[in-house]
Amino acid sequence: MAELVNPTAAGGSFGRTERHDAWWVEMIPVVALLGGFGLYATLRAIEGRFYEWGPYLSPFYSPLIDVHHHWWPLSPALLILGGPLGFRVTCYYYRKAYYRGFFLDPPACAVSEGRKTYRGETAFPFILQNVHRYFFYLALIFLAFLWRDAIRAFFFDGTLGVGVGTLVLLVDVILLSIYTLSCHSLRHLAGGKLDCFSCAAFGTPRHKAWQWLSGLNQRHMLFAWASLLSVGFTDLYVRLVFCGAIRDVRLF
Ligand code: FES
Repeated sequence: MAELVNPTAAGGSFGRTERHDAWWVEMIPVVALLGGFGLYATLRAIEGRFYEWGPYLSPFYSPLIDVHHHWWPLSPALLILGGPLGFRVTCYYYRKAYYRGFFLDPPACAVSEGRKTYRGETAFPFILQNVHRYFFYLALIFLAFLWRDAIRAFFFDGTLGVGVGTLVLLVDVILLSIYTLSCHSLRHLAGGKLDCFSCAAFGTPRHKAWQWLSGLNQRHMLFAWASLLSVGFTDLYVRLVFCGAIRDVRLF
């Protein structure tokens, strides 16, 4: 495969740029939040305990498989981790974020990464990022389980009720749904493979769906962060309630 010339790197050393602003500042929250979440999620997934209290189930463990460890000796979260992890890791927004924040490749827009060739995502291993569209379908299945968990969180020993945890799980699944609906792959499913909307689809339900999804897609970064933090917070809430560190307040 032919290698492309990287215009920002040609003749430049690492970090060379004509920008005068503090371009490196935007890396800090990405590294802190993404790194912190990655560490927390890994530890919690390995822990294999404190993930279920009353009607609440941590999203890290949903769907719950082999809860009693009959045939799987490790944490049940490890059985399902690949789905949500693959969806996030291959997400268009996160790719940009961790390429810059962790790989420094490039460190920022119009800042040289200090090498002369650029193959982007056209060669192994990054060409595998193209599987994102399939992780999107998988994410829909996970979303269905999370909605089931959120509905179950309204039932305390068979009685309808609402606790703070119910609201935490509900907000979490709503944010995850919006994040998934704002996915670039879904937008492409709705509006892709058409050269001209005004010729083929203008005003049709498909065009309206594409417009609506495009509106969500514009805020994909926001939904990516909000849903990520929400998943971590929801897991932490269930864990703290389970351990007795906090009490789940019943609202009615
Ligand atoms: Fe981010 Fe699909 S592009 S979830």
